[in-house]
Amino acid sequence: MTSAARFEPSGPLRGDYTPPADKSISHRAALFGAMCDEPVPVRNFLDSADTRCTLAALLKLGAGVEEGNGDVLIRGVGLRAPLEATGGMLDVGNAGTLMRLLPGWLAGQPGGVWTLDGDASIRRRPVDRVAEPLTAMGAQMEAREERFPPLTVRGAQLSGIEYELPVASAQVKSCVLIAGMLADGSTTVIEGSQSRDHTERLLRRARVPFAREGLRLTVSQVDELELDEIVVPGDPSSAAFMVAAATLVSGSRVVVKGMDLNWTRTGFLRIADRMGAVVVGDLEELGTDADAEPVGELDVASAPLEGTVVEAAEVPTAIDELTLVALLGAFADGETVVSGAAELRVKESDRISAVVDGLSGLGAEIEATGDGFVVRGDGAPLRGGVIDAHGDHRMAMLGAVAGLASSEGVEVVGMDAAAVSYPGFERDLSALLG
Ligand code: S3P
Repeated sequence: MTSAARFEPSGPLRGDYTPPADKSISHRAALFGAMCDEPVPVRNFLDSADTRCTLAALLKLGAGVEEGNGDVLIRGVGLRAPLEATGGMLDVGNAGTLMRLLPGWLAGQPGGVWTLDGDASIRRRPVDRVAEPLTAMGAQMEAREERFPPLTVRGAQLSGIEYELPVASAQVKSCVLIAGMLADGSTTVIEGSQSRDHTERLLRRARVPFAREGLRLTVSQVDELELDEIVVPGDPSSAAFMVAAATLVSGSRVVVKGMDLNWTRTGFLRIADRMGAVVVGDLEELGTDADAEPVGELDVASAPLEGTVVEAAEVPTAIDELTLVALLGAFADGETVVSGAAELRVKESDRISAVVDGLSGLGAEIEATGDGFVVRGDGAPLRGGVIDAHGDHRMAMLGAVAGLASSEGVEVVGMDAAAVSYPGFERDLSALLG
């Protein structure tokens, strides 16, 4: 069932805003917690459809999950686990991160067999990108048409490999690093450009032998993980919708609190800043090798925007916000070009088609390219109209922001998709609109 919601042109957004907990870190915290021998408290765990799938999968695998007051306590089964539900089906729902990270752990369990499957969107998203390196490490992997879920993992004693990522993907990187903890010897992953590094920070915190030399990451076999409490910071990808709204709706001023300021997640803020947005905060610098996630405030005010160019190297640090770059581009003066972003075609929807069709329907001048899009604006607001979320949480929330900043309002078809990452989105937006 899909729900429609209408977002009328609004007055300014004002006040303090705390984004929901980070989705990427919540998935990882639960997964790493399940690999520990001792219980791991996770504070401020994201309560969303996606992260509930991770908890459900871990329960099925024999871990304990106790919830209360926004926190969860994960009672792990250990890294080399007598994992339960072997032969069983694990439902990942819409969660690409679960679909790509969990096989890294399962692949290293000799004798275990599991099949991961999910919704219609996940079934269109490639898993050969994790099947290939895990096969090279010694696991047996089967995917539909050798490419798509359902994905069956037959665990084995793995061997370390050196693996150059064919796509810039933090999910694939994380999968191989997780498998590397179980593999004989050491495992090296080479990235083309830096993507989100939450897994690396958790490896260090869990005292796993891990080293980074530029874009070469090496993990060595380990017996057990040691993790104390994990506190999940606010999600910059969820906050990005409010940042975009505050930038576009004249007279707005929003202070974002408790947000993850990790350099690998703040590409959108640097792009917005180049476009003329007022986004002031203590963002982490490139090259910081900290274990903890940097957390802090961001002060955002509305401003007129100019077009910009985003190229491949910048794409991984803004991957989930590139559709918002298109939206800002539609309100900006001049041309905004995003390239090197073919990965957008295999997200929760084909986000290049979804954003080009969606924003065209609202009056934008936007064209798709093979690996991105070009949008031309004259600094005037979008007209408005109807946009289809295509079952994609981020497209739904983009439609809402477009509506507030438009001249005639926007109807979002499939607004319920927002619950995948941000069930409280409409409530938080209303609070800022007073
Ligand atoms: C994620 C990595 C990104 C991102 C996704 C979450 C993660 O995917 O788009 O929403 O948690 O590692 P890719 O690594 O496949 O680009």
